Amino acid sequence: MSNSHLQIPFEAELTLKRLQPRLDQLWVETGADPDCISEFQQRLQEYWLRLFAHLFELYGTRYDFFFHLEQILLAAARSWVERPEDLKKSDQHRIYQDDWFRSEQMVGGALYVDLFSENLGKLRETISYFKDLGLSYLHLMPLFAVRPGDNDGGYAISNYRSVDPRLGTIDDLKLLASDLREAGISLVLDFVFNHTSDDHFWAQKAQAGEREYQQFYYIFPDRTVPNQYERTLREIFPTVRRGNFTWHDGMQQWVWTTFNSYQWDLNYSNPAVFRAMMEEMLFLANTGVDILRLDAVAFIWKQMGTSCENLPQAHTVIRAYNAIARIAAPGMLFKSEAIVHPDDVVRYIDTKECQISYNPTLMALLWESLATREVKLLTQSLSHRQILPPGTIWTNYLRCHDDIGWTFDDEDASAVGINGFDHRQFLNHFYTGQFPGSFARGVPFQHNPETGDMRISGTLASLAGLEQAIDEGDEELKELAIRRIILLHGIILSIGGIPLFYLGEEWGMLNDYDFVKDPAKAGDTRWIHRPKMRWDYLNELEASSVPEEGSIRKRIFTSVQRLIALRKKYDSIAGLAMELIPLRNPHVLGFLRTHSGGRLMVLGNFTEHPQSVSGNILRTAGLGRFFQDQITGREYQTSEDIELEPYQVVWLVRV
Ligand code: GLC
Ligand code: GLC
Repeated sequence: MSNSHLQIPFEAELTLKRLQPRLDQLWVETGADPDCISEFQQRLQEYWLRLFAHLFELYGTRYDFFFHLEQILLAAARSWVERPEDLKKSDQHRIYQDDWFRSEQMVGGALYVDLFSENLGKLRETISYFKDLGLSYLHLMPLFAVRPGDNDGGYAISNYRSVDPRLGTIDDLKLLASDLREAGISLVLDFVFNHTSDDHFWAQKAQAGEREYQQFYYIFPDRTVPNQYERTLREIFPTVRRGNFTWHDGMQQWVWTTFNSYQWDLNYSNPAVFRAMMEEMLFLANTGVDILRLDAVAFIWKQMGTSCENLPQAHTVIRAYNAIARIAAPGMLFKSEAIVHPDDVVRYIDTKECQISYNPTLMALLWESLATREVKLLTQSLSHRQILPPGTIWTNYLRCHDDIGWTFDDEDASAVGINGFDHRQFLNHFYTGQFPGSFARGVPFQHNPETGDMRISGTLASLAGLEQAIDEGDEELKELAIRRIILLHGIILSIGGIPLFYLGEEWGMLNDYDFVKDPAKAGDTRWIHRPKMRWDYLNELEASSVPEEGSIRKRIFTSVQRLIALRKKYDSIAGLAMELIPLRNPHVLGFLRTHSGGRLMVLGNFTEHPQSVSGNILRTAGLGRFFQDQITGREYQTSEDIELEPYQVVWLVRV
């Protein structure tokens, strides 16, 4: 065992020697210039061992391993030759400035092209909006060709190389990418590699009975094997269909479908699948993607008798893709979408795997703190989960296009006297507005009657109490809701990581109950928080008189915009270094950010009552006697205790 392990570097080198003539032939065929060749060969030297080792681990026992390896190498080389010059230039920059994405200047937004601006052409005209807001990162939700009818918000892709014709063309996408680059905004696109749509070319071939393509998926003649798998699987979309398999009438067979029944899971134990998806990845890279969002990473490897989530081979697949990206598109980074247990989330985060990750635990626990008015679970979790390996970063978000799941760790909960199961029930009651006194107006997503499991849909503002306050016409409640919204932003903009907005939320948009009128959306409550962008709101910014709701929107927008601008002034916000301040007030979150000499102290009151915080503790943590809140400009001295208003957030800097 240890012996064979030692031989990998030797085998890798020998294999590359054997493959080199094929590569040389490709250089001749493509007429690649010497610089292009030498850059590639240099990076190949650097990353080949890693790539070889991962692929050998996954596919080394296959008789056709060498064939696939050769094809993978050639595809990577071809893609590098075809990579546009401006992208190669930005690759160079990023190789030397490999910390660019961990900067305080990074602020992200995400949007659906059709809902935000109709199409890619019109989206290009709104780049000034992104700049005004202060964005430097833009995630366009999946915009590729999709199946007719329901398509899971674009996540059921029928062709990775063409844009949904309603949104534009690949050329429009490239044009947008280059305009964004010029504006200093990184483009983020999805790599939906766990599954394809049931009308993707591969799935169609499978349906036509071609065995080569049936092996791209998990297809079974009867329930025997599916039933064996089912024993240890979770259900992700239990209201779509029970279990994880879908009967296909045409083939008269069962297909593995973790998500919707029309999303067919790909079989990564087949190297042909790895290679086919790799080619799609490199195609995307060359359209100008800066950050690739790896969708549903937890599910990509299956093994009988396991949960088929977060398996070691899932990591190996991603690491192999990472090595290929380093070689053929070295400026492009990976972001993982792992909305799973926090211990599993971090396992995807590594410079050799995904450099960036969603921070679902922080997201969930910020909402948890609002509901309980206590920060003990949040601080318990932050105390050992916020720091990541060097060279990586979180994206911190409050809402995204998906639901909220309570993915905190039960041991973190029990350490602070909370029963995880009961607490999730409470949070579901609270955020669906059923708990007495709740301010939230969320709705259930994927309620599983068997396990009692449920997730929550709803917009930021509706979950934070604004919808209820407006309905009740209650001024005080409106004020509290607005303050909750600003508090949450004050935290994610300063805590370390790239803050990420689901665009539209910056206006405090409310739930859109009209989604039920569209039959393709009615079955999925996540559409309640994906309304169309309302460009008329922008006029309210300048108008001398606006309706009352308009002035609320204006206040939320300008507050968020100001906080973003403020964030960019403090290099102490870059990176992840963060220390919790032991405030001894259960309702106030306090942390210190330090980076290259700068210090920023952040305090957030999670209740509707004033809270006081010991001046002496702040003096010791902040190393000073006089501080100024950068948000209000107010000065504080630590000879006295500091009073925070209801839901107030302060960013304190020593004066
Ligand atoms: C990801 C997406 C989600 C989608 C699922 C299946 O989790 O964020 O919207 O439903 O993958 O593709
Ligand atoms: C589950 C999955 C996540 C997906 C979500 C969609 O939480 O883990 O990948 O985004 O479901 O609801």
